[in-house]
Amino acid sequence: MIALDVIIAKDVNEMSMTAARIMADLVRKKPNCVLGLATGSTPIPMYKELIRLHKEEGLDLSRVRSFNLDEYYPIDPTHNQSYRYFMDHHLFDHINIKKENTRVPDGRTKDIAAHCASYEAQIKEAGGIDIQILGIGSNGHIGFNEPGSAIYSRTRLVVLTERTIQDNSRFFDSMDEVPRFAITMGIGTILASRHSILLANGKYKAEAVAKLAEGPVTSQCPASALQLQEKATIIVDEEAGSKLERKDYYNHVRALMSQLQK
Ligand code: F6R
Repeated sequence: MIALDVIIAKDVNEMSMTAARIMADLVRKKPNCVLGLATGSTPIPMYKELIRLHKEEGLDLSRVRSFNLDEYYPIDPTHNQSYRYFMDHHLFDHINIKKENTRVPDGRTKDIAAHCASYEAQIKEAGGIDIQILGIGSNGHIGFNEPGSAIYSRTRLVVLTERTIQDNSRFFDSMDEVPRFAITMGIGTILASRHSILLANGKYKAEAVAKLAEGPVTSQCPASALQLQEKATIIVDEEAGSKLERKDYYNHVRALMSQLQK
């Protein structure tokens, strides 16, 4: 059955705990699993819970491998706004994953095409991504796949929109420092994962979430491509889910499915 699984959590905490539990269950079942990870503010509480599970409940991530969705270009990994720095700071430095098993696209590469092809090849060699974590931009982007990105796109260099450059400028000392490019997994790369989990919270994501789950599949809302994935779970808080028209049905499905699993 191909259908988006939509979970409406009561708040960010429940959203993050639900996602962390799914990831931890996978890590326990398949200790050498491959995780696809995202940056941004949305997954931070979920990463905090994974750190807690590691420190307090002995969750062992020593055999896990990971691939991040994207990285600015050009940027040095030591820059405090690089996504490599973000991942080390918010997750990797606090769990027992081996750093050499974590991949983030290289924001310093000189041969972009070769690097992107090698990123795809490394994902394949690792056996493919078991769970891909995603956030969503208010314009429907996933990774740095802005509206218009092809559904079959793979890891590549993209030009950031004026709007994204403007939005990102708040994190940099000057406008000149804001990267104009990024290297991102493509939508095709994301769809090739075995299970995508998209998280969204807050009312400014509500429109994008409604389009992703209930609108047509269109490159104008890149996240809508998840409707084509064999297994995709959307976990939102009530605010981000407030514009979903079939809310009652999603809750009904969850209630009946949990009865079936008892
Ligand atoms: C992050 C990424 C982006 C973010 C999205 C939401 O690696 O690829 O697509 O997930 O922009 O960002 P936040 O969570 O900051 O609202």
